[in-house]
Amino acid sequence: MKKVLIAGATGYLGTYLVQEAKQRGYWVRALVRTSSRFDDIKDSVDDLFVAEATRPETLQGVCDGIEVIVSALGVAGPRPGDTTPVADVDYGGNHNILGEALKASVKKFIYVAFINFPAFQHLDITHIKEKFISELQGSGLEYCVMRPTAYFSDMGNFIEMAKKGTAYLIGHGRYRVNPIHGADLAKVCIDMIDSDEQEVLVGGPREYTYEEAARLAFSVVGKDPKIKKIPAWPFALALKVLRPFISKRKFTLVQFMLAAFQNDAVTPKYGSHTLEDYFKELSEQ
Ligand SMILES: NC(=O)c1ccc[n+]([C@@H]2O[C@H](COP(=O)([O-])OP(=O)(O)OC[C@H]3O[C@@H](n4cnc5c(N)ncnc54)[C@H](OP(=O)(O)O)[C@@H]3O)[C@@H](O)[C@H]2O)c1
Repeated sequence: MKKVLIAGATGYLGTYLVQEAKQRGYWVRALVRTSSRFDDIKDSVDDLFVAEATRPETLQGVCDGIEVIVSALGVAGPRPGDTTPVADVDYGGNHNILGEALKASVKKFIYVAFINFPAFQHLDITHIKEKFISELQGSGLEYCVMRPTAYFSDMGNFIEMAKKGTAYLIGHGRYRVNPIHGADLAKVCIDMIDSDEQEVLVGGPREYTYEEAARLAFSVVGKDPKIKKIPAWPFALALKVLRPFISKRKFTLVQFMLAAFQNDAVTPKYGSHTLEDYFKELSEQ
């Protein structure tokens, strides 16, 4: 039975990765940080390794006996009180884990990155993730780079806005995306443990324009759609002007969000979970 380390195990995707790896019969170690909320996973893992991925000295031994690493470690959105620059986590954290992997007998590193379409090449977050990917590709380890489009977790904002009565869209709302549920993505990630594929573009079973996703949210909460479209240029201008005054982390995340709403992010389709069912679950919470 292969021993698998899951990094970012307490996140939206990480929690599903732990469950899927256990269901497949792997021995699972979860890397969590002291401040992580790991109650949801602690009973479904074989070992819990508490350390700060951004501090290499705390990671010694994290890869002992491990054959495969699956990393969903990264900053996916604003976290109250967490000002750590995205580069320190997405590059620094994964770089530190790779360092431990090379000291141990790890054979394979599966890294969850992001789609790298031309429209996203100029983004800070792309440079940060691609820097780690180049390092991984040159490490000598077997590897697979997952390139998912948006997660259902990121579409959840539409339900919050629909409940409040008005959904705000940046831009004209006609760009397309096929978001994916964490459980479906986790299945594809764990499939890669025994696959030779080195890069996988992955998204959910159905495409939506951002406006269609907003309208779906209104229909789920049983309200007439009220959608306000805000031009993107004021945000882009504000971001440029405010750059010297806002944190690197905030700049990277807002720059990414603006690009996401203004470009198609459609990939090959996987999975069976529907956005409608996810919205229904959220609307009942
Ligand atoms: N969300 C999307 O739509 C999307 C789309 C494509 C790719 N991705 C990528 O997929 C990955 C996982 O996304 P997700 O939505 O599952 O993210 P998430 O829910 O925010 O989880 C991120 C994980 O990373 C850990 N983490 C964050 N900052 C850390 C730090 N400073 N030190 C140590 N650990 C830290 C979190 O630990 P705590 O629980 O302790 O905070 C958590 O386990 C990210 O790299 C993201 O960029 C996301």
